[in-house]
Amino acid sequence: MIWTVTFNPSRDMTFVLDGRLEPGTIDVATSVYARSGGKGNNVARVVRALGDSVGAVGFYGGAIGDLVCRGLEEQGIVVLGEPVNGETRTCLTMVGRGGAEITEIREKGPPVRPPAADRLLRRLLERVTPGDWVTLSGSLPPELPPSVWADWVRALNPRTRGVFVDTSGDNLRAANSANPLAMVPNRDEWNASGLSVTGSVIVTEGAEGATWYPKPGVVRRLRPPRVAVNNTVGAGDAFLGGMVHGLNRGEGWEQALVWAVAVAAASVTSPGVADVDPVVARSLISQVVLE
Ligand SMILES: Nc1ncnc2c1ncn2[C@@H]1O[C@H](COP(=O)(O)OP(=O)(O)OP(=O)(O)O)[C@@H](O)[C@H]1O
Ligand SMILES: [Mg+2]
Repeated sequence: MIWTVTFNPSRDMTFVLDGRLEPGTIDVATSVYARSGGKGNNVARVVRALGDSVGAVGFYGGAIGDLVCRGLEEQGIVVLGEPVNGETRTCLTMVGRGGAEITEIREKGPPVRPPAADRLLRRLLERVTPGDWVTLSGSLPPELPPSVWADWVRALNPRTRGVFVDTSGDNLRAANSANPLAMVPNRDEWNASGLSVTGSVIVTEGAEGATWYPKPGVVRRLRPPRVAVNNTVGAGDAFLGGMVHGLNRGEGWEQALVWAVAVAAASVTSPGVADVDPVVARSLISQVVLE
């Protein structure tokens, strides 16, 4: 089982426009996609599309929270949700000029008090088994301190096959202090963190692919296939989903990372956020280069 944790879930709405987004004008979307989102839920949807059993863990409130949970369950994802006051947030992505211009507007999300985080962690610890993997992704809702990342990594890493972290800033530094099995930030997030490689780090670099630091002093490059870009939002989540799916089916790191690059490229070709067609991903795998 793969558990994907989303501290700050959202309902993600993607509006695709014909031309470019013009502030101050009225436009009609050519297509609209609604997804159960937040970084961890994107990972959950990708892993599920690839065929694994997934548990999505997060805080939910109000009617939007119900919608997000129902959307996950409809895809066969098990939801482990802790109720919170307020309404789960909505995040808006506007895709203009055939994917060349992407505008995102995000809500902060309802506040979550630290005791609610402790309760959810205890509930997850009751459910995980030593054969499971855990991903922790995204931002924190208001009122949760970055130390939550260290607490969750420290509690879950020894009780599972491993915890993976995809976050930024103080959250990334806090998670790093607790030695997760690997971290998967993007290039900007990694550079801004000021961290140096101590454990395994995979830095994703958009159309450039990714750089893998398996341990201090070793650097490997992953070159992606050339694909038609429709929406790059959620490519990092697709990457993490592909990676943990590969590891879960028994692949070594090299093979799992090549697969992750193919899955992320498949996600980029689709207009929805982190929508992966496994057939497309498989067709791209031979074009991925690991140096
Ligand atoms: N244009 C592209 N062509 C091929 N592969 C891409 C492209 N853009 C991204 N990818 C793949 O997706 C991976 C993750 O992309 P990126 O580094 O942009 O993630 P990110 O910034 O974390 O995205 P998000 O947080 O929105 O999920 C890259 O390592 C790469 O393998
Ligand atoms: Mg990311």
